[in-house]
Amino acid sequence: MSLTLDTYRLLGRSGLRVSPLALGTATFGTEWGWGAGREEARRLFDRYTELGGNFFDTASTYTNGSSERLLGEFTRTDRDGLVLATKYSTLRRPGDPNSGGTHRKSMLASVEASLRQLSTDYIDLLYLNVWDFRTPVEEILRGLDDLVRQGKVLYVAISSAPAWQVSRMQTIADLRGWSPLVALEIEYSLIERTGERDLIPMAREMGLGVVSFSPLGGGVLTGKYGREDLNPTGPVAGETAGSRRSLNAALGMVTERTLAIADVVKEVASELGRTPAQVALAWTMKAPGVTAPIIGARTVAQLEDNLGALQVDLTPSQLARLDEVSAIDPGIPHSLLASDHIRTVTTGHMKIENRR
Ligand SMILES: NC(=O)c1ccc[n+]([C@@H]2O[C@H](COP(=O)([O-])OP(=O)(O)OC[C@H]3O[C@@H](n4cnc5c(N)ncnc54)[C@H](OP(=O)(O)O)[C@@H]3O)[C@@H](O)[C@H]2O)c1
Repeated sequence: MSLTLDTYRLLGRSGLRVSPLALGTATFGTEWGWGAGREEARRLFDRYTELGGNFFDTASTYTNGSSERLLGEFTRTDRDGLVLATKYSTLRRPGDPNSGGTHRKSMLASVEASLRQLSTDYIDLLYLNVWDFRTPVEEILRGLDDLVRQGKVLYVAISSAPAWQVSRMQTIADLRGWSPLVALEIEYSLIERTGERDLIPMAREMGLGVVSFSPLGGGVLTGKYGREDLNPTGPVAGETAGSRRSLNAALGMVTERTLAIADVVKEVASELGRTPAQVALAWTMKAPGVTAPIIGARTVAQLEDNLGALQVDLTPSQLARLDEVSAIDPGIPHSLLASDHIRTVTTGHMKIENRR
């Protein structure tokens, strides 16, 4: 595989062309304790776009609005050449119940805030960020469709939500002639593969391109974490409370399992003369259904390292080792459906390919 950022891919069931690696901007701004200041964020933006990168991922609340404001500032000279994806639904004002959630009032107010922060009059791709388990799907879909009809949003998409709800939404959107969902943004990496059970197959069947976040498991797959980081409860020695290392510890990203996966990633990287980050990203880029992993770089050196994934070729045996160490329990009904017994009762001993 030798790709470039300007080897564009089509996003889901749309004609929109996006780079095979998106640039995440949760690191634009220092408000969350683990991001880049304005100057380094500018260098990240410049390097990515210089190489043909066009796909940016942000959200109205990232770094308390700084991420969108910096993107707005940097994109002023070539707004139309770029694809800006942002998200709504996380609480923007503590204490105001309608400033978050997936409903129409939160959606419209968040989009207006994003347009202001991004200094633009349209958003290329609007994601529902996180499912709130409270809003009727018709309200969400009609609200999204209204935004498209108003020209404020070009395409709509969804992030962390149950597969069955997304599938139902896509069916309703199709039947009603409302704007379809064109992308599904989920956490997906060698340490988080549970999306393979239902979310990714659903996305492929329903025409949503998968855009994967945290492809390096917050940094664990770069090989810089070790057994000394196995402390998921307390603060990490030598790190400030808001650092990424502390966040990863709090989120339980560093476990015996994830470190064992990182060890195999390191072995494969050394065989190929590559870095672990490049191997981990290359694995995600190769996964069926994935349109673009989102890079989460804090420095230009990390960005350069991660972009090296575009040139990584994994051999079948390396892929098999990575798949094996990161394998998940498929859960029901998949474990049952994969059994010899079920294969026998549904297909007998006949060869029936699973393709049309
Ligand atoms: N839809 C959602 O709900 C959602 C959720 C999360 C993220 N996202 C999006 O996805 C993007 C990426 O997510 P993520 O930050 O979790 O991605 P990630 O790639 O798993 O982790 C990125 C972190 O790893 C470290 N890192 C990155 N490249 C490195 C390298 N080459 N060598 C060593 N360390 C490296 C950096 O942390 P340190 O250097 O500080 O250790 C960086 O902040 C975000 O910016 C955001 O746009 C979306």
